[in-house]
Amino acid sequence: MKNIGILLSGRGSNFEAIARNVAAGKIPAKIALVISNREQAPGLKRARQMGLKTLFISPKGKEREAYDQEVVTALKVAKVDLVCLAGFMRILSPVFVRAFPGRILNIHPALLPAFPGLDAQKQALDYGVKFTGCTVHIVDEGMDTGPIVLQAVVTVLDDDTEESLSARILKEEHRIYSEAVCLMLEDKVRIEGRRTVLRQ
Ligand code: GRF
Repeated sequence: MKNIGILLSGRGSNFEAIARNVAAGKIPAKIALVISNREQAPGLKRARQMGLKTLFISPKGKEREAYDQEVVTALKVAKVDLVCLAGFMRILSPVFVRAFPGRILNIHPALLPAFPGLDAQKQALDYGVKFTGCTVHIVDEGMDTGPIVLQAVVTVLDDDTEESLSARILKEEHRIYSEAVCLMLEDKVRIEGRRTVLRQ
């Protein structure tokens, strides 16, 4: 059985979607550890209620590399095979990325490479695109730049607000994140440069 490590900073709805699918036997793995950089993150509280092992690692007064090394050590001790960033509001240093090469996933609420960074749904609305969506990608040393595993398209409606659009994107996030986790755990994702190729 493979081990998943989750990193989150906030609400944790993507974490919960993954946890539900693990509990339902749809994801063949165990959530070995949930880590947050924010003590009050609702997602961390939820993980505790679910009886999962949780860890708050405070970033206060720590250099980025030292912080990341602490997180990496905790993930290694928990024997984590796949790291899932689920609304983790920190950029990972090379120390972290190199400790889990090709084994860190992130979810982004836009069709990358469009609208990287913060407030992707608002960026899409402000730009006036007719379609946006979400992307699960492998984390590399850039921001929202790694090879794409899965994407889902969401239509932007004329009367969409940031909230209504975000809600429809979030539904797709929950669906494709678990799907991508399964593909990774089953070793079905081969990285070829910037692309990923799915093995049958
Ligand atoms: C999601 O929109 C995700 O795409 C982005 O951060 C948000 C996290 O939401 N990376 P949640 O904490 O999973 O509910």
